[in-house]
Parts: sequence; structure tokens; C-alpha cells
Amino acid sequence: MNSQTKFSVAPMMDWTDRHCRYFHRLMSKNAQLWTEMVTAKAVIHGDKKRLLDYDAQEHSLVLQLGGGDPKEMATAAKIGQDWGYDEININVGCPSDRVQSGSFGACLMQTPDTVAQCIEAMGEVVDTPLSVKSRIGVDDMQNYEELTNFIEIVNNAGCDNFVIHARKAWLQGLSPKENRTVPPLNYDWVYRVKKDFPKLTIGINGGITSLSEVNEHLSQVDNAMLGRAAYHQPYLLANVDQEIHQSSRPVISREQVLLEFVAYMKKQQANSVPVRSMTRHILGLYHAQPNAKKFKRLLSGKVVEIDHLYQWLDQGEAFAES
Ligand SMILES: Cc1cc2nc3c(=O)[nH]c(=O)nc-3n(C[C@H](O)[C@H](O)[C@H](O)COP(=O)(O)O)c2cc1C
Repeated sequence: MNSQTKFSVAPMMDWTDRHCRYFHRLMSKNAQLWTEMVTAKAVIHGDKKRLLDYDAQEHSLVLQLGGGDPKEMATAAKIGQDWGYDEININVGCPSDRVQSGSFGACLMQTPDTVAQCIEAMGEVVDTPLSVKSRIGVDDMQNYEELTNFIEIVNNAGCDNFVIHARKAWLQGLSPKENRTVPPLNYDWVYRVKKDFPKLTIGINGGITSLSEVNEHLSQVDNAMLGRAAYHQPYLLANVDQEIHQSSRPVISREQVLLEFVAYMKKQQANSVPVRSMTRHILGLYHAQPNAKKFKRLLSGKVVEIDHLYQWLDQGEAFAES
């Protein structure tokens, strides 16, 4: 995140793909959006267009890389810069077995020197701002000082921008999903990091569910990141510019969001993108509205067609009680 960023939607594998991000961007111009984690190896050797392409509307956009080899991370960062990303982030928070077996993700918290070497190598080849998304610790890292030691070493290598998921990751015995709920949240440690390193940009993440909570966190740290709440209740993004960034733009309606997303889907469909791979991200648009179930049902049928959404809008279904 750059120093102006106050709010971001978290990187979420299989969720925050380019279609999801386009949908989110319709609701907030100021939120920073993040890609899913892409491994450095995939960026270097894989189908770059498929992995890295995005719509120009998606800026400001962070590319999150997974990896722990400084050379590979530098090469991938350079490719990300050439692709036009606004920031390149290192994932130091993912606890999955696959990621651990590649010696990256959350286990890198135990080897801050490796993260520092990656930052150094990346900084030598790109001007794009770099950042690190971490946990507050892993496994037997019990002390706050171990977290500050990590921050200090990585900062000395040239990174002044951290997003901290305010819970530890347990590398054995918990699934990635459990690792997002079982280890307790500890916001105080993230607040302390900001107090102890006031010059660094510090973002907080984990368990935040509303914009009023975001504003509370912003009295302690520089920015707040929402993951699951933003995905499942996406319409909360419609108030981010007004409530977090003091924009005077009118709040976009759900129906306008839908209309604009349908126009986007039509274009993508012409490029052979399956409709369902896009509609799956908008199931929560009517969350907590009387017609929420009806909307989900409309998008969960055997056949999902864009025309169904036009009908929903044309027939005033969007406004009807279910
Ligand atoms: C489905 C899913 C996939 C995720 N994938 C990533 C990822 O690719 N990179 C990452 O740093 N964190 C990933 N996360 C973790 C989130 O970025 C975030 O740190 C976590 O969900 C806590 O924030 P929340 O409580 O607001 O959801 C993922 C989370 C979910 C739910």
C-alpha cells in the first residue's frame, strides 16, 4: 500500500481474480485492490497473460508474489513492474502445506534474512514500491520482540510498508481456513508496531467486518485491509470512498453496479470467459437485503445467463420483496 492508501481488499486465492476486482472497483475508486498470490516461478515460467493481465480500471493494484528465492523474486518483480502493477508485495502469511514445502509464505517469518534478501534483490531491479504482508508470528514465536526483529531486518533491506494479519499462523495441525479463525486476533501488537516504527506504513488485517471498525483502526495505524467481509458483503465497498476517504461522490446503487458489471460480463463473454466464472463473485451483492436469497438463486441455477440479470433489473426484481 502506498502512504495514501487507507483501505484495501485482501489478496484471496481463487477469489480476487480480475473479474472480482473489476466488480469491486465499480463500488470504490479509492480502495486498493490486490491480486491473488501468484508464485514467482509461475510468473517467470507460466502463461503471463493469463496470470497477470487486468483491466486498466483496476488500478491501484498490488501484485502479490509468493516465493523465497531472491533471484526469482527479483525477476518476477521486474515482470510485474513491466506489466504496470502499482506495488509488488511478498506473501509472508500463507500457511498452506504446498507453500511451506516451497519454503515461502508464513514460514518466512522464521527467516527474516531471506525476506530481506528478496527485498534487496527486488529493489535493485524495480522502482515500483515494495511491501510485505505478514502475520504477527508463527508457531513458537511468542514474543512481540520477535515480530519487531522481523520488521527491523526487512525494513533495513529497504521495505517500509507492511500489512500485518493480526494473528499468528500455526504451521502444523491447522488448515489454511482454520488458520484464519483459530489463532486469536491481537490487534494491540500491530498498533505497537506502528508506535515503535512511526515512519513505516503499517496496515492491519484480520477479522474486520465494517467501515466503522476500519475507522477505529485508522486512529492507530495507516490502513486497514478487509478480506472475507469484503468478498461476502461486497456492497460495503460502495461506502468506502465516502466514509473512509471523505469523497463527496454519490454512493452508487446496487442496481447501477449490476448494470455496469453486466456490460463488463458481455464484453468478457465475447472473449469466451464463462459467465459463471464472473457471476460467482457477485452472489453477495444483495447481502442482508429482502431479495438476497432470490438473487443468489438466480445465479445458482443450472444455466446462468446474462439476460437473467437484465430481466432482474428490467422487471424491478431488484427492488421486490422476496
Ligand atoms: C479464500 C481465501 C484465500 C486467501 N488467499 C490469500 C493469498 O493468496 N495471499 C494472502 O496473503 N492471503 C490470502 N488470504 C488471507 C487474506 O488475505 C486475509 O489475510 C485473511 O482472510 C484475514 O482477513 P479477513 O479476516 O478480513 O478475511 C486468503 C483468504 C481467503 C479467505
